[in-house]
Amino acid sequence: MAEHPAYPVGLRLTGRRVVVLGGGQVAQRRLPALIAAGADIFLVSPGATASVEAMADAGEITWQRRRYEEGDLENAWYALIATGDTEANTRASAEAERRRVWCVRSDDADEATAWTPATGHSEGVTVAVLTTDAKGRDPRHTAAIRDAVVEGLRDGTLVAPHHRTRMPGVALVGGGPGDPDLITVRGRRLLAEADVVIADRLGPRDLLAELPPHVEVIDAAKIPYGRFMAQEAINSALIEHAKQGKSVVRLKGGDPYVFGRGMEELQALAEVGIPCTVVPGISSSISVPSAAGIPVTHRGVAHEFTVVSGHVAPDDERSLVDWPSLAGLTGTLVILMGVDKIGKIAETLVAHGKPADTPVALVQEGTTAAQRRVDATLATVAETVRTEDVKPPAVIVIGEVVKVGPTASAPRE
Ligand SMILES: C[S@@+](CC[C@H](N)C(=O)[O-])C[C@H]1O[C@@H](n2cnc3c(N)ncnc32)[C@H](O)[C@@H]1O
Repeated sequence: MAEHPAYPVGLRLTGRRVVVLGGGQVAQRRLPALIAAGADIFLVSPGATASVEAMADAGEITWQRRRYEEGDLENAWYALIATGDTEANTRASAEAERRRVWCVRSDDADEATAWTPATGHSEGVTVAVLTTDAKGRDPRHTAAIRDAVVEGLRDGTLVAPHHRTRMPGVALVGGGPGDPDLITVRGRRLLAEADVVIADRLGPRDLLAELPPHVEVIDAAKIPYGRFMAQEAINSALIEHAKQGKSVVRLKGGDPYVFGRGMEELQALAEVGIPCTVVPGISSSISVPSAAGIPVTHRGVAHEFTVVSGHVAPDDERSLVDWPSLAGLTGTLVILMGVDKIGKIAETLVAHGKPADTPVALVQEGTTAAQRRVDATLATVAETVRTEDVKPPAVIVIGEVVKVGPTASAPRE
């Protein structure tokens, strides 16, 4: 066959007969995509791998347990020839040629009338990579190109804005605890497509430096309040930019709904009819202890963990936390925004029965280059915060889990 490039096309196989010859590894790899395409799959093979067998048991394919016979390709639209018997493969591809059925061959790409591209999916798009001719076929290279494109689209390093479907509006994106690698794939992509980013002090600020120059980056802490409260000023900045038809990302630390006021922002946008999408994020309440070697649960040690805001002291009338009940729990307590009030908090927990030698760890600037962990006990934590100069942001973990990891350090007495 002359060396012309292959012509790429997307087959719409729903309800159409596809014949697969051979039930080995090649079939196992290809069948899920054929099933997903809705093909009416007829497998002919004396044996099959356990996964292929499971597909037949589940009714996703029809399996005849025998060798290929002339006539098997009747009524087929497409064939995958992948038996271990070259002679049978040759006969089957001759039948395919005669019947004008496009066929791929696992053992001889030169003799095939179709090639399977390396494929991947990202946000409603299929990326399919083919080499131009049979001689240049290098499946690892095509797979690597596919991976580079799909990964790039997913993580936003390859920017392909949605021109038709892209909607102005706001995305509340949970940016994770700070390490730029700990934002979600969706969050990173939306960030890469934004016109305006309004960012908090916490979260993956390093990502802001990577944004293209046309993106307007606004520091939420620096929005002038004027006659507003800080939060109202942020809400009105979101509304103002979205009303100009821009794609706005509100980049928040951790998860937008964990002490993040995300719902207030969503409500403010809803009131004026601006569409808002929320992208969950990895909350510091779990990820920061984890980054410091502390599991918030551990078999045989803690069957629960409770995440509490420590931004007001236990005796403050604005506090909504039932500290006496928390003192009675046996699991892990995770306190956010608690550095300033930890003395009062520890005192209250001990006064209501929590042992004074309960281990405590403070993890400051978790997941960033500046991360540090300081260990104490409920009895010593107030003093430790002072002497060690622990500063917000920090996550405070109280409970026996503090001691289970290999990185646990001795508490300061
Ligand atoms: C206003 S709350 C926001 C929490 C955020 N929505 C989340 O899910 O992680 C801020 C508090 O989260 C904690 N925090 C957030 N990021 C942190 C980090 N990288 N290291 C330590 N603590 C962090 C601190 O307790 C900080 O005072």
